[in-house]
Amino acid sequence: MGGFYAPCMKFGSIFSCGLLSFLVSSAPAENTAIKPYDSEAIARAMASDKAASEKLKSDPQRPAYHFLPPANWMNDPNGPIQHNGYYHMFYQHNPYGDGWGHMHWGHARSRDLVHWEHLPIALWPSLEAGEEHVFSGCSTIRADGKPVIIYTSVKEGKSATDFAEQWLAVGDEELIKWQKPTSNPALSDTLHGATKVWDWRDPFLFNYQGDDFLVLGGNLNHGKGGEGVVNLYKAKDSTLMNWEYVGILFKHPDPKVVNIECPNFFELNGKWMLVISPHRRVEYFIGNFDGKKFTSEKQGLMDESDSYYAPNCTTDDKGRRLMWGWVRGFKGGQGWNGCLTLPRELRIDEQGKLWQRPVKEMSALREKKVFEAKDLVLKEGKKIECKTPQLEIELTFVSGNDSGIRLFITEKNPGLEIFYSNGELKVGGQKSTLELGPNDPLNLHVFVDRSVVEVYANGKSCITKVHESPATDFALELYSLEKTSIVNGSVYELNGIW
Ligand code: FRU
Repeated sequence: MGGFYAPCMKFGSIFSCGLLSFLVSSAPAENTAIKPYDSEAIARAMASDKAASEKLKSDPQRPAYHFLPPANWMNDPNGPIQHNGYYHMFYQHNPYGDGWGHMHWGHARSRDLVHWEHLPIALWPSLEAGEEHVFSGCSTIRADGKPVIIYTSVKEGKSATDFAEQWLAVGDEELIKWQKPTSNPALSDTLHGATKVWDWRDPFLFNYQGDDFLVLGGNLNHGKGGEGVVNLYKAKDSTLMNWEYVGILFKHPDPKVVNIECPNFFELNGKWMLVISPHRRVEYFIGNFDGKKFTSEKQGLMDESDSYYAPNCTTDDKGRRLMWGWVRGFKGGQGWNGCLTLPRELRIDEQGKLWQRPVKEMSALREKKVFEAKDLVLKEGKKIECKTPQLEIELTFVSGNDSGIRLFITEKNPGLEIFYSNGELKVGGQKSTLELGPNDPLNLHVFVDRSVVEVYANGKSCITKVHESPATDFALELYSLEKTSIVNGSVYELNGIW
């Protein structure tokens, strides 16, 4: 799965299926779980992660300050939430290998958005109930104070394209132990009446005028194109167990879009924003919402790279909208695969333009300033020797034209070029949509974390690249083909987070 259009792949199960064991209890529905907190399944999965993490060589490509699991595969970030002084991050995780499969929800928390603590796996496939994967979803704190997750449950023997259900899990105060009420599913496809929704998955919760709503991705014609949709549902009560189908919130205007995954829908700076993963680069739409329909006024790309997919977001007590994407495109067979982008803060300005920047907390990782430029006139270029492939580069080229940065230069390797010329910014040869006038300054904020490079250009364009990094000594070069380019800013070496 993981962003590729394919019917749900089948994996040979390495689990042994137990009997369907419903707990008989007089407790309220949520406490009567299907195998309440399956500690066996979780212990087995975590033992597998631990064994794999011990085997991880010190791999110079493995990111050191981007969030990733202890070992093995990850894809989408799921249900990020701030609760009791911690940011919690869940994520699609295969604890049994470094490829996609056996979807669980990994879990970690952070006090500062920078350093993360791994926690026990949160959600596991309830094999005894015929569940094969726990797919992506969201989390919230319900009106009664109970933490809940809503996720897509995929059954063994069924393809996720044809059949899926949306399930609820109820957590403890620390968000560590989760139970799946026997009253699941919370939403089933009978809600749609005669309409068949294919690839029905990835619930995202939001509140509008005091009511709880969900959006879910999918398509209306078995992925043949032209009918990629985001559907809208309204909660009938505060348990979040009972829902009604409102209708189609959004149909993709491009007939080439076969399906929509991981919709995020939220209010930001007085506008409504829809973010979708349509099996190609992640798109956003900014517009208005009336409780039923979304009308889009502007659209663009969240990140101008194929290495970024399936983002998810939350708000925090500082009033920020924070978003993380899944970074993909790493070489297989390394015992790990996938990480998250840095948390990005989103803002929409008065002209309805989207701005994105890495959260300012990231500056806590600065270990040493290795270069500073104050009105440096770039004539023949400036080389900076680097001892570590963990860097933060924040530079403004006063006149942006015909100037840039080369990263990872070794004797044998020309490196990765970030270059602006004639109105075009290119990263590794790939053109971005950033638009600048000939005399506009170019601000590049670049995070290099071994094989992951995140480029933020003028706060508007983000480009995430997976690029092979030299293990250690390499050079970084600032250069200009124009005689007059003046540069200001700094380069820092960064610490790792584990
Ligand atoms: C996106 C996706 C989601 C799905 C999950 C499965 O990458 O395909 O639609 O829930 O991954 O891991």
